Amino acid sequence: MKKRIGVLTSGGDAPGMNAAVRAVVRGSIYNDMQVCGIYNGYEGLMSGDIEEFGLSSVADIIHRGGTMLKTARSPRFMTEEGLNDALKQIKLFGLDALVIVGGDGSFRGGLSLQKKGVDVIGIPATIDNDLAYTDFTIGFDTAANTIISLLGNIRDTSASHGRATVVEVMGRHCGDLALHAGLAAGAESILIPEDDYNLDAVCEKMLAGKKRGKLQSIIIKAEGVDLGVEELAKILEERTGIPTKTVVPGYIQRGGSPSVKDRLLAAELAYSAITLLKEGVSGKAVGVSGRGLVNVDLEKAVSERRKRTGHYRRIAAILSI
Ligand code: F6P
Repeated sequence: MKKRIGVLTSGGDAPGMNAAVRAVVRGSIYNDMQVCGIYNGYEGLMSGDIEEFGLSSVADIIHRGGTMLKTARSPRFMTEEGLNDALKQIKLFGLDALVIVGGDGSFRGGLSLQKKGVDVIGIPATIDNDLAYTDFTIGFDTAANTIISLLGNIRDTSASHGRATVVEVMGRHCGDLALHAGLAAGAESILIPEDDYNLDAVCEKMLAGKKRGKLQSIIIKAEGVDLGVEELAKILEERTGIPTKTVVPGYIQRGGSPSVKDRLLAAELAYSAITLLKEGVSGKAVGVSGRGLVNVDLEKAVSERRKRTGHYRRIAAILSI
């Protein structure tokens, strides 16, 4: 009997999810396994919104943002009743294993299934890059690139008016998007949830820049920082006298065609997931660390949130004097 696997995307969509689904489907078929697409994340798993995929089911999606499988946040799946409904459908469709493409919440769902005896492999995809066990998650690079492009536009207009701009980017618990994009775009100050902020230092930088003839400043903050974007802008404007605007790109940063880096990551991680399943290994989340592929127990993957502020933080502080 051929092994039959199901693939779903769950949680917030991320650019590169489609590339990952494509690679899971094609990789499974190459390895003589049957593969089913599960629509709407765990919602579709509970309701049986599942269909068998062939090679052409995933044609023409590699370059598209979002997810052709659709996605959902699914509180009902976290109940005993929801889990049982999912188990019934897994049996009905004869699925031997599941590949879950998503972030930590999605992996938690996968872990509940694994504990009930379903073979699960997790592929990390979230623009937040908040999983500690992997250096990168699918979607992060594209979102960071979208943000630096927006920051370039903001610079043009802010410099023309002699303004400062506070930009709030996504990242509920993790400041990686703010930190990476902020450093890459030369933001004057970067505020992330992992660190305490010092508004005096932010103001001093704005004023010192103005004194040197700098025409604009960008202050980038992650959404998880416990000071609202409007409130922050008001404080900075009051204290410095520099007109300060706000920009919240919101979902603009979550869409868009995936970058090369995200497409390659999707291909590599899907390859790794399929290889593990072929070898009969499950209950793992795949990722990258240093230059290589890694896999860790799902339990470990969901237990640690990224806490990394040192290196880029220091460099950003030096370069934005
Ligand atoms: O999980 C990724 C993320 O982009 C977070 O940074 C953000 O807070 C959240 O999704 C918003 O998602 P939604 O509004 O779609 O539930």
